[in-house]
Amino acid sequence: MRYFKSVTDIGDLHEAVREAMEVKANRFAYKELGKDKTLLMIFFNSSLRTRLSTQKAAMNLGMNVIVLDVNQGAWKLETERGVIMDGDKPEHLLEAIPVMGCYCDVIGVRSFARFENKRDDYEEKIFNQFVKYSGRPVFAMETATVHPLQSFADLITIEEYKTVERPRVVLTWAPHPKALPQAVPNSFAQWMNATDYDFVITHPHGYELSKEFTGNATIEYDQDKALQGADFVYAKNWSAFEDPNYGKVLSTDRSWTITTEKMALTNNARFMHCLPVRRNMIVSDDVIESERSIVIPEAANREISAQVVLKRILEDL
Ligand code: CP
Repeated sequence: MRYFKSVTDIGDLHEAVREAMEVKANRFAYKELGKDKTLLMIFFNSSLRTRLSTQKAAMNLGMNVIVLDVNQGAWKLETERGVIMDGDKPEHLLEAIPVMGCYCDVIGVRSFARFENKRDDYEEKIFNQFVKYSGRPVFAMETATVHPLQSFADLITIEEYKTVERPRVVLTWAPHPKALPQAVPNSFAQWMNATDYDFVITHPHGYELSKEFTGNATIEYDQDKALQGADFVYAKNWSAFEDPNYGKVLSTDRSWTITTEKMALTNNARFMHCLPVRRNMIVSDDVIESERSIVIPEAANREISAQVVLKRILEDL
């Protein structure tokens, strides 16, 4: 594997989950694979889970790891070609990327949507420049539009906890005070659509996601109806995708918060969230602390999803 961004990059999902279980059972079995290989992780945005889990996965594989927080100590980077660089950004991404490629064998990139230009975000302008100019395999650690390491971990977690062959999985919008990208719900929809699960998305009017990701998923605007019979409830906030409201918060309606009453509508569902989560906006204390909540094992599986992806990249170097 040379690039990892879309569900299609991982190939057969049954095989990917099988490999994940194998890695999880013996995570140091491939520690020679990454010997003398260097992973460079580049963060344009903050992280807790992605940074730690990906570094741990790389160490399990015997890799050396360099982390660059672009906003802490690095030169500020200009990303637009043609700009007269007389402002506060002394370095251009077009030099910085190939230079970074000189110091490593594999690159992970985190670069969120900027909400300045929808086309730039959805064309993945930053991530694609790394693909084009680094000369290295590149994987997404959450881009402007997708978060595949999260979705792969979510899939592994559902496979571990499901009690029926074809669970009902409900992705529900929930309120949040700030504008968040669509990357997690986009990816989750893309990955769930690649399974044979009964997959439903529920959100208020105005929060429709791109059809590129939601495909033929069932969209239900009545959250209570969507939650009925759910085996898994995946809560997440996202900002509006459709023009003219791209990147805007249209609602903070707390009747969409996942509470014990909402969970009572489900088939004793498991609660999931990618974290970080704002308690009592997205989900009540009671639900996230309940024995049906699997947010911690879900986060733990981030190490496993990252390790499978890095393993496959290393095998193809
Ligand atoms: N879920 C996730 O990607 O967490 P971080 O933003 O902390 O990396």
